[in-house]
Amino acid sequence: MSKKIILSGTRPTGNIHLGNYFGALENWVRLQDEYDCHFFIADWHALTTGYADTEKLKENTLSLMADFLAVGLDPDKSTLFLQSSVLEHAELFLLLGMNTPLSWLERCPTYKDLMANMGEKDIATYGFLGYPALQAADILIYKADFVPVGEDQLPHLEITREVARRFNYIYGKEVFPEPMPLLTKAKVLPGTDGRKMSKSYNNTIALADTPDEVKKKVMSMITDPARIRKDDPGHPDVCTVYAFHKVFNEEMVPEIESSCKGGSIGCVACKRLLQEKIAEFHTPIFEKRNTLLENEDHLKQIIVAGSDKARIKAEKTMQEVRSAVRIGV
Ligand code: TRP
Ligand code: SF4
Repeated sequence: MSKKIILSGTRPTGNIHLGNYFGALENWVRLQDEYDCHFFIADWHALTTGYADTEKLKENTLSLMADFLAVGLDPDKSTLFLQSSVLEHAELFLLLGMNTPLSWLERCPTYKDLMANMGEKDIATYGFLGYPALQAADILIYKADFVPVGEDQLPHLEITREVARRFNYIYGKEVFPEPMPLLTKAKVLPGTDGRKMSKSYNNTIALADTPDEVKKKVMSMITDPARIRKDDPGHPDVCTVYAFHKVFNEEMVPEIESSCKGGSIGCVACKRLLQEKIAEFHTPIFEKRNTLLENEDHLKQIIVAGSDKARIKAEKTMQEVRSAVRIGV
């Protein structure tokens, strides 16, 4: 039996942080052995909101591929590629645009939210409205069975399913299977200030941070604010450091909990324990991504080879699509 097909993508909007890693990438790495996986850099999607500031786009693209590889995505197991290097996505996006009702796009919650909250950036564009249709093209062109995504992406998956159904119905051919979301319980990691880890809150620990920067960030994390002296009893459940211990230092969690509550461990010592654990995880990844980024040509070759592999599959689907639509001669 052939393996089920998986596809997911990330926009190259800056450095991958530990929140992204535990929220998605860790899971992608695991999926590689069981599924026929496709993971890509969604650079066209980055343009839907960032069309006017593209100075860093190439740099971010290479850096994201280095992140992919450094955490263990493997071009020998998975198809790792760049969206803009597989032009077939754009062709399918165009054809899907012909039969995607405006209302489906206009009522998409991610569209409504961003339109309301984007501030000065002008995103009242055709491209931004079409974001979910482009995402549908990304997914359908590989006939993906499953799409590992966070909950925020579920509306896009629903639109993708509707788009697939409508296309198959209009042209009377089951060209596209309806993809299912793959929601896995991800580990939750707050930002260094206790809020959600997010670039816009400036509370991230990025894979690209130096070991020294990571150390500083850990040592300045917010702890239990009610704890003033070292032997005050602490409340681990409100403490960011404790939340990190749950991810990075599982074996010691019960011990830390009781010594925190009993006032027998100080926050500085507690952070130091955590800092060592995070370093064990982070430093090798940091070094690997640096080595990769030192050789840009090699990194580009990986992107080109992965995109060539993706294009062969995309082109095969497009032949079926063109024939179903009866476009061309
Ligand atoms: N919209 C996704 C995000 O912001 C990125 C993305 C683009 C994607 N195309 C995709 C994810 C296809 C899954 C499948 O995270
Ligand atoms: Fe948090 Fe550790 Fe301090 Fe307890 S001892 S409040 S868990 S940093």
